[in-house]
Amino acid sequence: MSLDQGRAQAFCKRFGLKLPILLAPMAGACPPSLSIAVMNAGSLGACGALLMRPSEIAAWADEVRAKSNGPFQFNLWTPDPPPQRDRAHEDEVRAFLERFGPAVAANAGDVTPLDFAAQCEALLAIEPAVVSSIMGLYPPDFVDKLKKSGIAWFATASTVAEARAAEDAGADVVVAQGMEAGGHRGCFDAAQAERQLVGLFALIPAVVDAVKVPVVATGGIADARGVAAALLLGASAAQIGTALLRCPEAKLHPAWADALARTAPEERVFSGRAGRSIATKYVRTATAADAPPPAPYPVQRGLTAAMRSEALCSGGATSPNYTSAA
Ligand SMILES: Cc1cc2nc3c(=O)[nH]c(=O)nc-3n(C[C@H](O)[C@H](O)[C@H](O)COP(=O)(O)O)c2cc1C
Repeated sequence: MSLDQGRAQAFCKRFGLKLPILLAPMAGACPPSLSIAVMNAGSLGACGALLMRPSEIAAWADEVRAKSNGPFQFNLWTPDPPPQRDRAHEDEVRAFLERFGPAVAANAGDVTPLDFAAQCEALLAIEPAVVSSIMGLYPPDFVDKLKKSGIAWFATASTVAEARAAEDAGADVVVAQGMEAGGHRGCFDAAQAERQLVGLFALIPAVVDAVKVPVVATGGIADARGVAAALLLGASAAQIGTALLRCPEAKLHPAWADALARTAPEERVFSGRAGRSIATKYVRTATAADAPPPAPYPVQRGLTAAMRSEALCSGGATSPNYTSAA
C-alpha cells in the first residue's frame, strides 16, 4: 500500500495550501501570531472564536490578513440549549472548587453565552476560506449563507454517524476527530460521549469509506509520522492542535507550555463532559467518583474562572480560557 499523494494534493489545490496540514481551531489558544506563522509556512490558519465578540473576531482577521496572504478557518461551537440551572448543585461545585483555589462568587455561574447569530454574521462579513463547526451541525440558513459566500464548511465529527449527518447537511469537508484529541471532543450528543469514544486509527478509514467529501484527521497527531499515518489511512490532510501550542508564536503561558512538555499521552484524562486535558491535581480530583459532576456549559466555565486565573498566576497548568470540566 502506498501513500495516495493525489488526494492530499487535490485538497491543497482546492484550499490554496502548500502543505496538507491545518492548525486546529482552539478557543482561547489561537492568537493571530500562531496562524500567521502557520499560514506563511503554507498551511491553514485557524481561530477558535467561541469566546470572541464580533469586534474581536474582526480584529483577529485584520491582524492576520495584514501579515499573511494565506487562507484560514474560523470555528464556532454549535450552541447548546440554555443550561438547566441547579443552584444546590452549583453550590456543591463551588465548595469543591474552593478546595483548589480562591473563593468562588455566588454569581460566578451566571455566564451569558455570546450571541451566536452575531458571531455568524461576523464570520460572513470576513469571508474566510473556511468556517468549521464542532458539537453539532450548523443551522441550514447559516449553511446556505456560507455556500452563497463561497465559504467552505468543515464539520467536525467524532463518529461515522456524525460524519454522514454532516455530509447530508452540506458539509464540504468532514474533520474526523479521534478520542485522542486535546480539548473538548466534538460529539453531537454530550450524553453519548463516553460511550462513543473512537480512536483516530479506527475512525479515519471508517469515515473515509462512509462519506464522499474529503476527510481531515485530527487528534493526537504531533509529528510527520502522525501526518503520514493519517494520509495513508485515507485522510486528505491532518489538523494539529496540542503539538503546535508549544511554538513561541502560540504565546502560551509558560506554566501551561511547560506542563505540556512533561505530559505523556496516558497522563491526560477524560472529564465527565467529553474533554481531554492535562491531568492536573484538580482534573484528577474532579473526575474522581466522589466529585460533584460539572455544571452544564457555560456555567462551569464561570464557576472555574477564578481558579484558572489564580492557577496561572501561581504557575499552575490550567489554561486561562479553557477547562476540561466545562
Ligand atoms: C486548548 C484547546 C482548545 C480547543 N478548542 C476548540 C474549539 O474551540 N473548537 C474546536 O472545534 N476544537 C477545539 N479544540 C480541538 C482541536 O480543534 C482539535 O480537534 C484537537 O486539538 C486535536 O487533537 P490534538 O490536540 O491532539 O492535536 C481545542 C483543543 C485544545 C487543545
